[in-house]
Amino acid sequence: MTTSTLAARTAATAGPAVDPLPVLKGFASLRRLTGTYPAGHPMITQKLKELGDLVNEGLRLDSPLRIDVIRGDVYLDGVASSEENQAGQQIIRELSALGIDSIHVREGVRLEELQTVAEFLWQYRDSTGESVAAQLARRHVEHISLGKLLPLDTRWRVQQWPDAPTGPIDPAYAESILLAQQAFEDTAAGKPIDVVTVSDLVQLLIFKVARSNAALGQILAVKQYENLTYCHSVNVAMLSLLLGRQVGLDEPTMAALVEAALLHDIGKTRIPLEIVKKPGALDKRERKLIEAHTTFGAEILMQTPGLRPLTPIVALEHHRGLKGTGYPDLGDAVPHPMSQIVSVADIYEALTGARSYQDPTLPEHACLILARLAGDKLNTGLVKAFVNAITFFPLGSLVRTSRDELGVVVRTNRGDPLHPVLTLVADGIEGPRGRIDTAARDTSGAYERHILETLRPPEGLDLGSLLALEQAAA
Ligand SMILES: [Fe+2]
Repeated sequence: MTTSTLAARTAATAGPAVDPLPVLKGFASLRRLTGTYPAGHPMITQKLKELGDLVNEGLRLDSPLRIDVIRGDVYLDGVASSEENQAGQQIIRELSALGIDSIHVREGVRLEELQTVAEFLWQYRDSTGESVAAQLARRHVEHISLGKLLPLDTRWRVQQWPDAPTGPIDPAYAESILLAQQAFEDTAAGKPIDVVTVSDLVQLLIFKVARSNAALGQILAVKQYENLTYCHSVNVAMLSLLLGRQVGLDEPTMAALVEAALLHDIGKTRIPLEIVKKPGALDKRERKLIEAHTTFGAEILMQTPGLRPLTPIVALEHHRGLKGTGYPDLGDAVPHPMSQIVSVADIYEALTGARSYQDPTLPEHACLILARLAGDKLNTGLVKAFVNAITFFPLGSLVRTSRDELGVVVRTNRGDPLHPVLTLVADGIEGPRGRIDTAARDTSGAYERHILETLRPPEGLDLGSLLALEQAAA
């Protein structure tokens, strides 16, 4: 990495040099202008030039430019916009009404593409049945994608898993996924939930998966494969368990929390699969239907004898914010503390999982997003505890240090989450090459090295077995 790109990256990670809100505003005004004036009108040309300059500035510092609207806030590559005003809220509402939550622009974008996207947003009616990606491709837009942000769906079955991690899945984790699959499939087929399977699964997660570093690494790391069946529910249950431990819940409460987290999205079994799987933007009716998975879930769970009373409550409340936002509308009722825990785990898991239209968010960016949501939407204490529990560099992350070393995080340092212990790897493809503690300091008291960035694991690097080796040595 050259010094100049390094400097650019550091600037980009230190804070957004380009505020995402003006870029969104640019798209919104260009959209209106293209709908009002004929092509080539000076006002369109002027606005297009302004937007082009803004986008290029953003791309220069941070490639690609990823703008997401998450629960009403704007993010640039996971970092929140510093600007908050009425006009911003209006633009967010305008885009959300179209079902667009994210605009990603890649290097090489042309002014014509910006204009085409603005026109597309003006004409867009979600009734053609053609995906947004296909419609943009037909208009020769290659460097911009539009999408919606939705938590991963637990019913999304894929026949193949082409980009599966190369390492073996931890056996207890694999077994949990199979059990979760069975429970969800039975419910989707109209059968009652098998409470024995659910209780086996809770035991398996608490006593086996939670004790396996390899499994935790697999759950916490970026998941580049398309959603594996029911992974999301198992992962949310594990992350809720981690957070529950961190805040000191007792064992019976923890078992209730894991059960509730496992079944929080069970209501999606009642939503038509084509809506749940739809890669493009959702229309109002579809959005309402997706939102109804919370009430459907609570209904299904209330009708299931043998489950704990908390379980339907969490299914009902897990998309609700602390101050009465979110859905379903329950007035200003504050969600149950266990629902608040599952919300934090659910958002982190959804962000770090692969989606059909974009790469997953890296763990540290997912943490920044959680931090931004803390206060109004998420419980600040829980977000802090979660970030401490998982650390900014979760087990199994592949990272680069300031000394240009590549290493896999194998242990975290309590109280210093930014400086974990690494097992070094050579360019990611050979075996372990010794261990370094990034918390080590030189004689002047300064850190010897910092973590510069998290990288996506290259093909052939078996992070799972590196963690298993560490576990065996411990
Ligand atoms: Fe959900």
